[in-house]
Amino acid sequence: MATAKNNTIKLKFDSARKLAPAPESKSAAKINPRYDLFINGKFEKPSSKKYFDTINPATEEKLSEVADANEADVNKAVKAARDAYENVWSKMPAKERAKYIYRIARMIQERAREFAIIESLDGGKAIRESRDFDVPAAANHFFYYAGWADKLEYAFPNRRTTPLGVAGQIIPWNFPLLMAAWKIAPAIATGNTVILKPAETTPLTALKLAEIIQEADLPPGVVNIITGAGATGAAIVNHPDINKIAFTGSTDVGKIIQRAIAGTNKKATLELGGKAANIIFDDAPLDQAVEGVVNGIFFNQGHVCCAGSRLYVQESVFKQVVQKLKDRMETLIVGDPLDKNTDIGAINSKQQLEVINKYIKIGQKEGAEMFESSCPLPGKGFFCRPTIFTNVAQSNRIAQEEIFGPVLAIQSFRTDDEVIEKANNTPFGLSAGVWTDKGSKIFNMTTKMRAGVVWANTFNKFDPTSPFGGYKESGYGREGGLHGLNAYVNIVS
Ligand code: NAI
Ligand code: MG
Repeated sequence: MATAKNNTIKLKFDSARKLAPAPESKSAAKINPRYDLFINGKFEKPSSKKYFDTINPATEEKLSEVADANEADVNKAVKAARDAYENVWSKMPAKERAKYIYRIARMIQERAREFAIIESLDGGKAIRESRDFDVPAAANHFFYYAGWADKLEYAFPNRRTTPLGVAGQIIPWNFPLLMAAWKIAPAIATGNTVILKPAETTPLTALKLAEIIQEADLPPGVVNIITGAGATGAAIVNHPDINKIAFTGSTDVGKIIQRAIAGTNKKATLELGGKAANIIFDDAPLDQAVEGVVNGIFFNQGHVCCAGSRLYVQESVFKQVVQKLKDRMETLIVGDPLDKNTDIGAINSKQQLEVINKYIKIGQKEGAEMFESSCPLPGKGFFCRPTIFTNVAQSNRIAQEEIFGPVLAIQSFRTDDEVIEKANNTPFGLSAGVWTDKGSKIFNMTTKMRAGVVWANTFNKFDPTSPFGGYKESGYGREGGLHGLNAYVNIVS
């Protein structure tokens, strides 16, 4: 539907045919009313005797309650992991270790539907994404690293490697099951044992994974999964018998962890925040580029460390791209995460919604021009419309700080050098995107951009074979691919 006005074509979205609701059934997912700590192959009550609620951010209803692990529980989990490391896992032939990891991968696939529903219920992400991305990608990580377990001599030719020992792994709430897979799979494939702590708002799929690990008969203590908030995480970080900390989360907590482990023998990989530049040149296929921008910033409600949260558009196509983007935003469906038509689900928590709304106000105060889609929002739960800002200055906070929501800051540029300088002008360096028809331009940009991952004519693409990680305040160390193995071994000769 279109009407001509002042020689511009204005698209109308309110006349489109409404999609009937297509909700995924909750009944396919079994959630216990209460979960204990998974230590040494068993679910154990926390010594704190305390539990906390995890809610569905789309309805604000309680889903379950999970144990709050204290220092005594962390000690128990570390002891279980150490015993399993010394007595079982580090001694087991690598090809035997691989069989368990393949088994876990297959069991995730078998229960993919249940995992996807629970992920969407607990964290608010659209079922389309948990079903088509999070869960298959998690299974793929286990398959990929299972394959490496008995081939480390090919990963590190002419070198001998040993595992690090016991790894403490702390993960965030934006990709709960996938981050558990990123952490656990390479660690146990290389012969380490682990204590994993999921984030406090999204513990349920990690606890489901614990059930699978138990059913898969993984030797007790190889993987321990304990729940709790920051204090539990800190107790893991500070435990003297842990050899490595793997952390994904905020830059602030990453800095606390770095300070805490300074002067110890603990190794660390830190995957922190980002403020990625997505760059559109005037020779790019604009419709595809706009799709890439939508995927870059609205995927997972923008709760993505590598989200394309800054858009740079070459001046000659600026107006056109912004108009196309606004039109496309009007077609995005915000709402029930379990509805298969939903594009943008619920914001993960009340606190995160407050952070996002704070930044939207800051953007307006800074004088940037705001546009948000006109879609209706559900009456309950935590939701945010897809939002863009134009008229943004490089120094504005919305162009410098991580918002972690569906909010995009757009600027224009004229030359390659100008956009490279602007793109690199942030404290972060996790990812970037380039849209152009010219291969030479892509190579020029990718060599000059200080970002761990640079996507060309696509965005937010992941694969277990491909390393991921950042520069500067985005952290250090790589996960995924061969590089991901490196982070879990000592090269001894
Ligand atoms: P956070 O960094 O506090 O939480 C991440 C994980 O660290 C959780 O499991 C949490 O329990 C744990 N944790 C918290 N304090 C800790 C401590 N002192 N020692 C050890 N572990 C600790 O992230 P938060 O507060 O939930 O989100 C705040 C902001 O962080 C977001 O707005 C976003 O900008 C950024 N963030 C970035 C992520 C990424 O993937 N890079 C993921 C989550 C948040
Ligand atoms: Mg929750």
